[in-house]
Amino acid sequence: MSFGPPPGSPFSGPSATQTSAAAGLPFAGMPSELAERATAILDAEPDHPEPDIAFSQWDHDRRPFTLRRFLGPHRRGLAGALGLVVIETMALQAGPLLTQIGIDRAIIPRDASVLAVVAAAYFLAVVVNTGASAVRIAYTGRLGERLMYQLRVGVFSHFQRQSLGFFTSEKVGVLLTRMTSDIDALAALFQDGLVNLAVQVLTLAIITVVLTTLNPTLALITLLAVVPAMALLTLWFRSASEVGYGRVRERIADVLADLSESLAGMRVITAMNRRHHNVIHHANVVGEYRDANVYASTVGAVYGPSSETIGVAGQAALLFFGGRMVLNGTLTVGELFAFLLYLTAFFAPIQQLVQLYNSYQQGQAAVGKLRDLLSTDPEVPESPDAIELPLVEGRVVFDDVSFSYDGRTEVLSDFDLTIEPGETIAIVGPTGAGKSTVAKLLSRFYDPGSGTISIDGADISTVTLASLRRQLGVVPQEPFLFNGDIRYNVGFARPDATEDEVRHACDEVGLTELIARLPDGLNSPVHERGSSLSSGERQLLALARAFLARPRVLILDEATSNLDLASETLVERALDRVLEGRTAIIIAHRLATAMRADRIGVIDHGRLIELGTHDELVALGGHYGAMYAMWERATGNPSGGNPLGGNPLGGNPLGS
Ligand SMILES: Nc1ncnc2c1ncn2[C@@H]1O[C@H](COP(=O)(O)OP(=O)(O)OP(=O)(O)O)[C@@H](O)[C@H]1O
Ligand SMILES: [Mg+2]
Repeated sequence: MSFGPPPGSPFSGPSATQTSAAAGLPFAGMPSELAERATAILDAEPDHPEPDIAFSQWDHDRRPFTLRRFLGPHRRGLAGALGLVVIETMALQAGPLLTQIGIDRAIIPRDASVLAVVAAAYFLAVVVNTGASAVRIAYTGRLGERLMYQLRVGVFSHFQRQSLGFFTSEKVGVLLTRMTSDIDALAALFQDGLVNLAVQVLTLAIITVVLTTLNPTLALITLLAVVPAMALLTLWFRSASEVGYGRVRERIADVLADLSESLAGMRVITAMNRRHHNVIHHANVVGEYRDANVYASTVGAVYGPSSETIGVAGQAALLFFGGRMVLNGTLTVGELFAFLLYLTAFFAPIQQLVQLYNSYQQGQAAVGKLRDLLSTDPEVPESPDAIELPLVEGRVVFDDVSFSYDGRTEVLSDFDLTIEPGETIAIVGPTGAGKSTVAKLLSRFYDPGSGTISIDGADISTVTLASLRRQLGVVPQEPFLFNGDIRYNVGFARPDATEDEVRHACDEVGLTELIARLPDGLNSPVHERGSSLSSGERQLLALARAFLARPRVLILDEATSNLDLASETLVERALDRVLEGRTAIIIAHRLATAMRADRIGVIDHGRLIELGTHDELVALGGHYGAMYAMWERATGNPSGGNPLGGNPLGGNPLGS
């Protein structure tokens, strides 16, 4: 993955001048001695530039994610670590050899000076081993953290790159698992796994070489007694644990998915008395996770002791055959001793390798999951030669658009609609008719199956997503607020807006009173998803957000459905001001809202069945005429002349 920013990328850090400007120094009239001091302080201030992260649909590494590719850039560092590992292991494995020399050349011949030299060499070996492993552990630890950072940011950017469809089809909890448990499994692998693996494999190799040079016959007997059994056992373990750890990774994703859904849906769960049932369901999900873990650890439990048994049996065989060789005089006592020590040392790494193999398996399972995740392409790709959409007048054309979410049921069919610049068009129709879908297609959350959508003659699939969405303001049917204060939420599309602008936008939609009532005004916190606000207040905040952004084309999807009549009237007056010279699509269930538009389109079953001004449609006497008549009867509004004046019921003639 490459995270280097292209020049001028909006994600590169602020310059030094920006930083000092942000420090808020007055730009005139600072006495020179103060100025000097200020410069000194500013120079001493640490820079906190944003990390260099380039983010677009195209500049990321599109090759499959593999361990080798991921570690590739750190090849040299890893080779260095491996060098240290070699030194470390050789120093450690010198021990039994030195013991053998001590016994055969010093103890048996009773030579104290040789004994002193051997002991000193032993001590030196220990010092070298400790030093090398300290440096190596520090290095790999830091490298592991850096790699994890890179991977976390990479996966997160990948999420940001995806189209909306991705988040409908993937469970939040599963995505969270990729970010937590899977990445942690990889971290465990990097931090000690890979290098330890090298240590252990190297230990085995060194011991084999030393044993063979000491006494080839005995080495052969030892290896024959131990290696085939060990190999068979390991082959079995390999396949069994692979299955086991794959299962564990899947189950933990289920657990997190269930958890996140339960937490998000707590209100409904409580209201519907599903707490008890929910606990049972979660117990089942967690139970499957437990079973997967039990299976994996059973496999480990068989492998560990079995390999130990093989080791001990090997030692017994060695004692028997080696002892006879000592009796025959073909082996010295020291050599037998060294053999026994090495055989013990031979099994320690095998035990370790089992542990490592576990973490390797988990790491590989995680790599597989991450590879699948990182290989998903956005469903709505920005074409590589996409152009910037220039500032538009706002002529929106749907040309013969058909669309389906799942490829089977058509949600929009042969949809044709031309909206002139500055025109406000209302879209009405029954629940599930496809109204919100029209808004989503125009925002290019999805691409139509056939037909084109264009703004000012530019097909929206040929322009950059950012330049398109900058000019579109969408107030969705379910507004989303972020954890932060009101100011942050209103200024979401325009973080550079001044406090006055934010306040003005809030005043326009009628939030003045709420803000005055809150203890910290604009800086009052909005809890996660705006849970501390009422639905109407959330809608008002979303409207203020859209008003502040002053987009060229505004799309309101049931944006006033939760407001009382007074607030709605206020918002509509504000809309009149905001919409001046802008194109607007207003999706509404309430006829009173729809009537204010220049033209009204009626959608039913994904088709535009009527289109015209209020008067034309009433005269036509079709769907809209019927809805209007019903509304008139319900509200007792005799003429239908000016629906703005009074709509005591805020009638909902479509009766969803
Ligand atoms: N993400 C999705 N995946 C599959 N089908 C979807 C998806 N979103 C909406 N639909 C289906 O598409 C159809 C149109 O949905 P849409 O949201 O456009 O309706 P709507 O006219 O806005 O209704 P409402 O008045 O209730 O807001 C519905 O039948 C709905 O079930
Ligand atoms: Mg809708």
